[in-house]
Amino acid sequence: MRILAVSDEECEALWDYYQPGRLDDYDLILSCGDLKASYLAFLVTMGNKPLLYVPGNHDKGYLTQPPDGCVDIDCGLVTFNGYRILGLGGCLRYNPGPYQYTEEQMNRRLNKLRFALWRAGGVDIVITHAPPKGVGDREDPAHRGFETFLELIDKYSPMYLLHGHVHARYDIQNPRERRYRTTQVINVSERYVLEVPDREVAPKDRNQVKWLCRHKEPPDDEEVRQRMFNRF
Ligand SMILES: [Fe+2]
Repeated sequence: MRILAVSDEECEALWDYYQPGRLDDYDLILSCGDLKASYLAFLVTMGNKPLLYVPGNHDKGYLTQPPDGCVDIDCGLVTFNGYRILGLGGCLRYNPGPYQYTEEQMNRRLNKLRFALWRAGGVDIVITHAPPKGVGDREDPAHRGFETFLELIDKYSPMYLLHGHVHARYDIQNPRERRYRTTQVINVSERYVLEVPDREVAPKDRNQVKWLCRHKEPPDDEEVRQRMFNRF
């Protein structure tokens, strides 16, 4: 299975200069956040493949205008072609605004998924916006990673954790792939192609996104809450 992961910066080759057929080789698209909803909607339309996403700290717009045709797996667990995929968006809180969490809040979000993780027997691919603490994060308050993600890796040993938030151009010396224990931690930064072995699935389940668990929280932003309330 070939996966296209995207985050943080819209890829010109896949948008402004898109050529038909460029998304044909992928089975699935994953977004790690901080991307325009219109870009994700474009990718899902042109690629005609499922697009699973988590929000980044700059995705306040998703609350009122989510990306059309895409699947929000924030604080959720799904399966796709035999792979269990978990999503935890947002970053460590550094100012007021939605999709920012304290370490304790992120820990509580992970706790909501623990029963589903136990039932599923673990997770294969984790998509987050922020990196784990000390594994590809930065020192400044806005780009520090979550300790909770280290605990997640310690406990469930996913094959991959894909994250965004730390743009590759911030530091060209910074490697995009790291290993923490047995997990490959990948900074997606614009785009990253991930190839994983095909797994046996029933024909009826092939290329289907199946939900195992989902938690939806009200947005922690008063202005957005008001706008959503006024829509109804
Ligand atoms: Fe970010």
